[in-house]
Amino acid sequence: MPDANPPAGGALAFFIDLQPPEGDFGADVLAGLTKPQKTLDSKYFYDPAGSELFDAITEAPEYYLTRTEIALLDAIGPELRERAGPGAVVLEPGAGSSVKIHKLINALDAPSAFVGMDISGEHVKAACEEIAADYPQLTVGAVCHDFTQPLEVTALPLPQGKRLVFFPGSTIGNFELIGALDLLHVLRGWLRPGDAMLIGVDLRKDGAVLEAAYDDAGKVTAAFNYNLIKRINAELDGTIDASALIYRAHWNPYRSRVEMYLQADRDIAFTVAGQRFQLREQETIHTENSHKFTISTFQDLAARAGFDSVHAWTDPDQAFSIHWLEVGGEA
Ligand code: AVI
Repeated sequence: MPDANPPAGGALAFFIDLQPPEGDFGADVLAGLTKPQKTLDSKYFYDPAGSELFDAITEAPEYYLTRTEIALLDAIGPELRERAGPGAVVLEPGAGSSVKIHKLINALDAPSAFVGMDISGEHVKAACEEIAADYPQLTVGAVCHDFTQPLEVTALPLPQGKRLVFFPGSTIGNFELIGALDLLHVLRGWLRPGDAMLIGVDLRKDGAVLEAAYDDAGKVTAAFNYNLIKRINAELDGTIDASALIYRAHWNPYRSRVEMYLQADRDIAFTVAGQRFQLREQETIHTENSHKFTISTFQDLAARAGFDSVHAWTDPDQAFSIHWLEVGGEA
């Protein structure tokens, strides 16, 4: 069990490395480029340069998601404090935005612990040490783990208290619906009856607004996509001519998602890890999806994963939503 008195000055109460298997970048890229619709897995966007580009996306004027969610977290702080009660244990899959977790911790009533989890041990350790330094009274732990995979939470030295999974940013939207359902199931497995999840979910809206959010005039989102091509060329001995690829974001209302592509403006041939590929003029590589929900389509998904939807907040423009989901049964 963690010490009753957390360690001083930014030190973690625990760091547990569950040694998640690293994704096989090379095998996944080759498999994706071999499909009839060429595809790259968006999880590979986030190398150090890609993570910096993503931070820049969150500041683009068209990308309303981050600033709207942060303002909403500010607005609902007192309600979150009330719902969570004193001494909550906050668990964050992905250990993402430092601004958002600070908002949540500041809003809560004397939370007892924070545990960040991420597939990158180095990243989660650094992020959690920052939180430990900022909140000396809080027990802070870090776990190196792939949060899409089941986790034996009982094996973690968590203190008593209501557990609150915090999953902001609408990251759930980047999963295919079946994957989103699986992930919600996995996260529900971290919780006991009476525990809760606070999750940020972007809302369906006008297609032009969505396409602008994912194809900003400053071309940061395009650069984020080209960075993946750079990564393939550098790490997998690729010869892809990025200058032949045009970045496109397309709102698909039938699947309620923004689809992102790199489209060839001429026939090109290239190799990756010694394997030959070609793209015909206008052919695309599908790089990412970002699903958008209504309050009720998200609540239906959450219900299918066994959650009770207790409350949903939105901003005045109804651009973004934050959901309080609970696990039913006797606490
Ligand atoms: C991380 N995720 C929630 C972002 C989104 O909005 O789907 C990823 C992103 N891709 C391009 N812009 C933002």
